[in-house]
Amino acid sequence: MAEAVLVTGGAGYIGSHACKALKAAGYLPVTCDDLTTGWADAVKFGPFEQGALENRAWLDAVFARWQPVAVMHFAALSDVGQSVRDPGLYWRRNIAGAANLLDAMSVAGCRHLVFSSTCAVYGEQDGVLLDETSPRRPINAYGASKAAIEDMIGNFSAACGIEAVIFRYFNVAGADPEAEIGEFHRPETHLVPLVLDAISGRRPALTIFGTDYDTPDGTCIRDYVHVADLIEAHISGLDWLRAGRGNAVFNLGSGRGYSVREVIEAAEKVTGETVPVIEGSRRPGDCTRLVSGSRKAEDELGWRPRRLLEEMIADAWRWHQRGAYRR
Ligand code: UFG
Repeated sequence: MAEAVLVTGGAGYIGSHACKALKAAGYLPVTCDDLTTGWADAVKFGPFEQGALENRAWLDAVFARWQPVAVMHFAALSDVGQSVRDPGLYWRRNIAGAANLLDAMSVAGCRHLVFSSTCAVYGEQDGVLLDETSPRRPINAYGASKAAIEDMIGNFSAACGIEAVIFRYFNVAGADPEAEIGEFHRPETHLVPLVLDAISGRRPALTIFGTDYDTPDGTCIRDYVHVADLIEAHISGLDWLRAGRGNAVFNLGSGRGYSVREVIEAAEKVTGETVPVIEGSRRPGDCTRLVSGSRKAEDELGWRPRRLLEEMIADAWRWHQRGAYRR
């Protein structure tokens, strides 16, 4: 019997890609998801335990049933704009879920955790490239809740010996290169799927959120990482923990930033279509520039993103054209 890994949020975008990679690596990925933002039909690679992390009794039963060797924790609300409008929701759900999960792990004797954090913990940093030692100054409740969970993990590590690899993602994009799974949020807020929606006519146009930023073309700059590359780092992170290498924090970014306009241009090149665009105002909670300046994941974990922006868009486009959004 394959060793089980609990994947919270395994029915979501990044979590479902983790399940596929875990299965390929010989593990049994057990999805724990309450389907608040996930999709039952994305659970294709292992068993499904439907429930919310706030339900401690359910969580304890799941740990007892599967005896996982590790947890990958993706489950969280992650819409930056929503977190600005409704911060209490983010503090309640993300924090309570993580606290219960860590309690359940320590009671069950499960010591290894791979945690999905975010570059949003850094916030605005005056255009500097961000590395793992950059100060954390989140400017929205989403980033603040992830920073708080990082600290919470430190407390559990000291108290119960839990060891964690914390990954701070930059902007994740793309889809499974085999187009089995991909990105789908309702409502959709992410740039790449929205650009593709505008191309395919599912939306009338893409609104660019702000053209007056202090960047070369006036639009925000982000560091995009292909979801398949990102998940390769998670398997390496699991290996790292199981080899006894202990707590670590890694940025997962490419070190290359693209503006919103550059993403639009890349999508036009990949699809051969024009993106209808509206120039709108800034979206509250957005930072001007978020780009990783760290080689730590490469130096210590042996991870480097291999796929460029055009490949992310090509894979997302293939998934989009399969019509998976007709959920
Ligand atoms: N953007 C637009 N128009 C849109 C949607 C987005 O111009 O319709 C712009 C945003 O202003 C931003 C960029 O495209 O500059 C990327 O926006 P996304 O919503 O795709 O991604 P975010 O950078 O806001 O958020 C993502 C993840 C978060 C993570 C964050 C870190 O969704 O989980 O990166 O910044 F925390």
